[in-house]
Amino acid sequence: MSKRILVVGLACADIISVVQDYPEEDSDQRVLDYYWQRGGNAANTSCVLSLLGARSEFLGTFATDREAEFLKEVFQKYNVITENCVTYTDGVKTPTSIVITNSKNGSRTILHHGKNWPEIKPEHFKNLDLTQYKWIHFEGRPSCDDIKDMLLWIDEYNKTVDKDARIRTSLEIEKTTRIGLDNLFNTADTLFVSKDYVKSRGYNTKEEGVQKLSVKCREGSEIICPWGEEGAVAMGTDGILHSSPAFSPKLSPGQNMETLAAGDTFNAAFILSRSKGQSLNEALTFGCQVAGSKCGMKGIDGLDTFKS
Ligand SMILES: *[C@@H]1O[C@H](CO)[C@@H](O)[C@H](O)[C@H]1NC(C)=O
Ligand SMILES: *[C@@H]1O[C@H](CO)[C@@H](O)[C@H](O)[C@H]1NC(C)=O
Ligand SMILES: *[C@@H]1O[C@H](CO)[C@@H](O)[C@H](O)[C@H]1NC(C)=O
Repeated sequence: MSKRILVVGLACADIISVVQDYPEEDSDQRVLDYYWQRGGNAANTSCVLSLLGARSEFLGTFATDREAEFLKEVFQKYNVITENCVTYTDGVKTPTSIVITNSKNGSRTILHHGKNWPEIKPEHFKNLDLTQYKWIHFEGRPSCDDIKDMLLWIDEYNKTVDKDARIRTSLEIEKTTRIGLDNLFNTADTLFVSKDYVKSRGYNTKEEGVQKLSVKCREGSEIICPWGEEGAVAMGTDGILHSSPAFSPKLSPGQNMETLAAGDTFNAAFILSRSKGQSLNEALTFGCQVAGSKCGMKGIDGLDTFKS
């Protein structure tokens, strides 16, 4: 059986109401639509990987409430392995976002709950049988020191196996406020940095961002920066700037772009392509193609047309 791609991070529940008009406080109205949706970058990336044909595993923590049951059903539906997830039984609640979507202009008002959520710890991670994996991706959660520990653990494992059995690692740095992530650039083989992150560090373009930030990356690694409708750039071991344009989706008249989860989709497509030994350029282009196509559909289910 082929080796797995593991994604470590958050699964949460988005509880969405679509309204005709944004409500006044202390009023009531009927909503146009109501549904629960899987959320969390790692949850989305692992589901997209599976849709694209990878053997995909999600590693994160679950509570024991209904939202957790819902999330487990979602992973099952997408054929994502969750057998190594950790369940907390001591009354923690699944992180949720209550989302009010205004149907007039698509604006989203979001209320997050997720205080003191227990993340995956190195002691959980060290129980994994690492021989099963070819790639391990980390979402840049606030638990930076723990993420570093887990990445170093994989490095140690790599030293004990043949070159082609080594695990490739990647890390997504998206949020600008997670300062501790600044110290993790030299701990992974592939770094994904977001537009917001690059801008927050004082760089104006994606090209400047990867050039300046690549200095912080370790030897043999590559850094990728997706930039929405401007496509994406990357810099690898050759020190050359690679780029791909964005691929705009075909929209039917009156249809709006849906960019939710486009970043998670890009990462999944890039990782899958690279894990198959395709070049940096090929992976970058595939990432942009699949992410572009996602923007022309509701949710992610239609992405199975890229399955290989
Ligand atoms: C949507 O409309 C509301 C007012 O009805 C406004 O406050 C908000 O900024 C708009 N959002 C977008 C994304 O256009
Ligand atoms: C594996 O770990 C080593 C350190 O032991 C690191 O240099 C390397 O980049 C890692 N990944 C791969 C794919 O070799
Ligand atoms: C995950 O994907 C769903 C759509 O499939 C989206 O509603 C949600 O916002 C995404 N979550 C994140 C964190 O991107």
